[in-house]
Amino acid sequence: MTCVPVPADILQVAVAALRRGEPIGLPTETVYGLAADARNEAALRRVFELKGRPSDHPLIVHIGTVQEFADWAREVPDAAHALARAFWPGPLTLILKRRVGVSDAITGGQDTVGVRMPAHPAALAVLQAFGGALAAPSANRFGHISPTTAQHVRDEFGAALAVVIDGGATALGIESTIVDLTASPPRILRPGAIGRADLEAVIGPVREGALSASPRVSGALAAHYAPRTATELLPRTDITARVGALSRAGQRPLVLAIGSLPVGCQGIALPAEAAAFAQRLYAALRQLDAGQADRLLIESPPDDADWTAIRDRLERASAA
Ligand code: TXA
Ligand code: MG
Repeated sequence: MTCVPVPADILQVAVAALRRGEPIGLPTETVYGLAADARNEAALRRVFELKGRPSDHPLIVHIGTVQEFADWAREVPDAAHALARAFWPGPLTLILKRRVGVSDAITGGQDTVGVRMPAHPAALAVLQAFGGALAAPSANRFGHISPTTAQHVRDEFGAALAVVIDGGATALGIESTIVDLTASPPRILRPGAIGRADLEAVIGPVREGALSASPRVSGALAAHYAPRTATELLPRTDITARVGALSRAGQRPLVLAIGSLPVGCQGIALPAEAAAFAQRLYAALRQLDAGQADRLLIESPPDDADWTAIRDRLERASAA
């Protein structure tokens, strides 16, 4: 990335599109978003249309200043201020009680709203130039893999999306941690780069795992973040044998492994360090998905806290 987060002419085109009610492709530090004016109903409808997303799935409101919190939430508890101070701008979405007037398109008709301040300089530049909040789901078709490059966004939407700001490959590679602060104790609805221990260091006890009866979280659907190719998650020790069995049955498996590819396997090996693995995960899944395999075999990640968010995404990717 250069020192200029977004060249002036591109910023102008992006803001003009947002003012017209057109969604744009926007880089954040997690994944690319499909950003639209959070106060424009027609623009929000267009987001759902483009994504093919059910209208009762809520959107995250992205803000550029902490003061805007109060525009969206009717109560901002101390815990929210403390977390915002500790982690914003950054990969943390806070679920709060919505303020009257916040669109049902954003809340999915629930009494809560998700808010975050993204850490990407281009996203912050657009938010500042636009002067208002942007609702932005990940810029992928519903259920598909989130985009981590501008090219991924173009691959998803083609000519249907006029403006995609290219901010390079995203730094973190997986979506923000979502914490429901309307629950007591607060609950992690979606794990991300900011882990349970990070949150607990600031606000005390936090629970993990969405309740099945909890508000709709599309990222909580079992089969989400999914490649189109049938996908299995399995221990490293089983991969070589599984590849052999599939190959003998006339199938072509591709493997996503940690550190190195097991003997006799084709595919991609990602770094054995969790953050570096996460950063490249979705690009690797897209590449494998385009590789004409009959099956993707993914090595199960280690059982430690660093890998919680990755494990969550891989379990969903293989649940279809
Ligand atoms: O990192 C991210 O959060 C990215 C970037 C673009 O900011 N955005 C993202 O948005 O992942 P999306 O729409 O793909 O996923 C947001 C998740 C969804 O699962 C949605 O259901 C949940 O947040 N969500 C939003 N508002 C909510 C609410 N009020 N209650 C519960 N879940 C909510
Ligand atoms: Mg998404």
